[in-house]
Amino acid sequence: MHCREIPLTLWVLMFISTSEETCTSRLHITAVEGEPFYLKYCSSSPEHEKKKTTIKWYKNESHGPVDLNLSSSPRILLRDYVLEFWPAELIDSGSYSFQMGNDTHDWKLNVIPRSKHSCFTEKLVMSKAVEVKKSLQIACEHSYYQQLANRTVLYKNCEKMENNQNPFLKNAEFKDQGYYTCVFFLHHNGKLFNVTKTFNITVVGDRSNILPVLLGPKINEVKVELGKDIELNCSALLNEKGVIYWNTWRKNGKDPNVHEGEVTRIRISEGKWLASTILRIENINTRNLDFLYNCTAVNEGGIDTKSFILLRKEDVVDIPGHVFTGGMIAAVVVSVVAVCLVTVGVIYRVDLVLFYRHFMGRDETLTAVVDEIHSLIEKSRRLIIVLSQSYMSSEVRYELESGLHEALVERKIKIILIEFTPVGDFGFLPQSLNLLQSHRVLKWKADESLSYNSRFWKNLLYLMPAKAVKPCRDESEVLPVLLQS
Ligand SMILES: *[C@@H]1O[C@H](CO)[C@@H](O)[C@H](O)[C@H]1NC(C)=O
Ligand SMILES: *[C@@H]1O[C@H](CO)[C@@H](O)[C@H](O)[C@H]1NC(C)=O
Ligand SMILES: *[C@@H]1O[C@H](CO)[C@@H](O)[C@H](O)[C@H]1NC(C)=O
Ligand SMILES: *[C@@H]1O[C@H](CO)[C@@H](O)[C@H](O)[C@H]1NC(C)=O
Ligand SMILES: *[C@@H]1O[C@H](CO)[C@@H](O)[C@H](O)[C@H]1NC(C)=O
Repeated sequence: MHCREIPLTLWVLMFISTSEETCTSRLHITAVEGEPFYLKYCSSSPEHEKKKTTIKWYKNESHGPVDLNLSSSPRILLRDYVLEFWPAELIDSGSYSFQMGNDTHDWKLNVIPRSKHSCFTEKLVMSKAVEVKKSLQIACEHSYYQQLANRTVLYKNCEKMENNQNPFLKNAEFKDQGYYTCVFFLHHNGKLFNVTKTFNITVVGDRSNILPVLLGPKINEVKVELGKDIELNCSALLNEKGVIYWNTWRKNGKDPNVHEGEVTRIRISEGKWLASTILRIENINTRNLDFLYNCTAVNEGGIDTKSFILLRKEDVVDIPGHVFTGGMIAAVVVSVVAVCLVTVGVIYRVDLVLFYRHFMGRDETLTAVVDEIHSLIEKSRRLIIVLSQSYMSSEVRYELESGLHEALVERKIKIILIEFTPVGDFGFLPQSLNLLQSHRVLKWKADESLSYNSRFWKNLLYLMPAKAVKPCRDESEVLPVLLQS
């Protein structure tokens, strides 16, 4: 048997043993080592049929059921529906069966050790709270062993009480708190036995003075829409006699659309209750607005009130459906247009930049990298290489490579590569040229590239630094000088 089951078993056992019903209907039973104990079958058949059928008791051992009879043990006594232990010992723990014709019943008995330092077993106490100044009564009664007992003694915290009245009765004081143990002394076969029953008495303060407490703020503003229904929940902590109610009356009577609900009460602890009541307002109208619906909780100790006030919900809260749909369409259209513009911008980048330069007249010569050394090469911002078959002869390769070194490593001038005649295989070109971005390579196509408006010249112009557009400009200043060897 699990330890957790003990308190429950105990409660049931105590309940049974204190009531008229002395039979043992529970499956799990707990007994204390050294005390007389019994199991009694709860018979549903009439008393006169008792003798007609044979009754058998078994203890279910690991190797099978063992028939219990008078010779089984001197401690065990069989009396029809009752199996008595004089007394119960630890070895008696186990499963027991009762059989009468077709009727059977099983119990699981757990015998726990007797406390060595106390007159009672802590696991077998019955807890009870008593309010101060209220009646404290301890009755030492035992439905089964009462008649057999020669003497009953009451102990408080294991000390024999001087005034040995039964039942023990007085007005509770805080000092009365403690463990009260009834000891029933019995004689059986010339031996003295005792059966104990212990109450754990707690003395608590006067509960009538507990102030009722309404839950939540004193004033509740509730946002409502006209024509809708609302439920106002009023809850309070109060004592057993406390009441909770709504106050909804006006000078000219009660509103027909306001309904008070039932009060529900839940016991949350000894002497403390949670009471709730709902006020239902149906089809809210303007009369219900700006009026205080009061809820009151009251008991002997005091009174507490809270108020609910209905306020009309602000109008502009939600975005109307058609505005939302319109907004979504606009957002999608704007996104599509933006994507198109970016795409066009990438494709017509060159034209757009030239167009911009024409109108803004920007002059990059003023802000680009200016070198202090006044040599011709160092002043250059572009290195234009025109590739042709004759150019690629071995004599000029060194010149080209050192020029590229100047351009790519030591300086920040940009390279423009013009394929004058188709070169095809770039493999023979210096390695560094492969690093050149593809848009910096221009192809001269004899027929298409001749016109000044052709893509070739536009691209070349685009790759060149921007210069301010002067009203009377010299053609040579605008057109790049093509170097060809
Ligand atoms: C009850 O009996 C047990 C032995 O079974 C003994 O130890 C204990 O002292 C007795 N209690 C009283 C109050 O005599
Ligand atoms: C006796 O009651 C008190 C108060 O309810 C509780 O704290 C205590 O654990 C109880 N003792 C036993 C042995 O159950
Ligand atoms: C106890 O009571 C029984 C009867 O209930 C009686 O037979 C027995 O003699 C009594 N014993 C003592 C010691 O008083
Ligand atoms: C009202 O509020 C109390 C406390 O919060 C809660 O226990 C109760 O269930 C509520 N009643 C309803 C009907 O919602
Ligand atoms: C509700 O309570 C407030 C203040 O607590 C009070 O002024 C008002 O008259 C009360 N209303 C009703 C209907 O009792």
